[in-house]
Amino acid sequence: MDRIRVLSGIRPTGRFHLGNYLGAAKNWVALQEEHECFFFVADYHALTTEPDGHKVEDKVFDLTSDLLAVGIDPRRSVVYQQSKVPEVAELTLLLSMVTPLSWVMRTPAFKEKAKQHPDNVNLGLVSYPVLQGADIVIVKGMGVPVGKDQLAHLELIREVVRRFNRTYAPVFPEPRALLTEEPLIKGTDGKMRMSKSVGNIVGVTDEPEVLRKQILSMVTDVKRVYKTQPGHPRTCNVCAFYKFFFDDWQHYWDLCRKAQIGCHDKKKLLAERIIETFRPFREARAELTPEVVTRILDEGSEKARIVARQTMVEVRQAVGLPAYS
Ligand code: TRP
Repeated sequence: MDRIRVLSGIRPTGRFHLGNYLGAAKNWVALQEEHECFFFVADYHALTTEPDGHKVEDKVFDLTSDLLAVGIDPRRSVVYQQSKVPEVAELTLLLSMVTPLSWVMRTPAFKEKAKQHPDNVNLGLVSYPVLQGADIVIVKGMGVPVGKDQLAHLELIREVVRRFNRTYAPVFPEPRALLTEEPLIKGTDGKMRMSKSVGNIVGVTDEPEVLRKQILSMVTDVKRVYKTQPGHPRTCNVCAFYKFFFDDWQHYWDLCRKAQIGCHDKKKLLAERIIETFRPFREARAELTPEVVTRILDEGSEKARIVARQTMVEVRQAVGLPAYS
């Protein structure tokens, strides 16, 4: 693929976990090799479910530290904080003028969030994908690495962009999803997708004791009651994780099938392996001081803002608004 501008964001709503890493950040690190990347912490988006920004602040810092620790490189990529590019809020407003309400009400993510927080179905939640679209097109992002759950948003964003371009002037390129090929990462309950809001996560840069506790709490093969019974690795979530962390995972799947390893031992082994695999990330994170992280975010946000301002000059002209003074 030719070098393109890639953009993606992640919401600062809890601890950085394995689903975030295997499903997103790992791929971002790889994309930096070939593309011009913009990666940001979506703190405006976090306000759709936690309106108190003070509670989001520490999470922005934590999440940025984690992203840097796992290999997002600020010398290669623009790493920034969404709300430090306030032009994105203005663009959201302007895109919302060409977004039919029925389109946003239809998205699965909206329906799901509205069900989760029935007492807080605010306008910001409805326009979540419009803000997401503004994130992308304000820097004229072309490729958007996302998981399957975000494809509906991407489709909607493309429609909004087409409509904007048709209504005013062709300001924006149409972004497309770069689908992350990772299979679904389930949480410690073995049922739901790993997610901060479900509370079924396994961390990445957390201390070994924390990781051990999380991994040992994983639900294993429910059909296997006794250690002497053969296991069913295909349907066991712990075995699914072996695929990510052991080159010889098949060997362990065989042991499990032959009842030569118990579920608890499998979890203990997995825990130690994960702890060891992420040791360099924990060490890199421990080296990051608050000053360094703040400086990286400030500098990255400044860079993103320069690009955003330029886009907004074109947008205001296309829409028929006065130029910035
Ligand atoms: N909506 C994404 C999520 O919940 C996060 C996000 C916000 C994003 N803005 C974006 C992803 C722009 C890609 C591009 O995971």
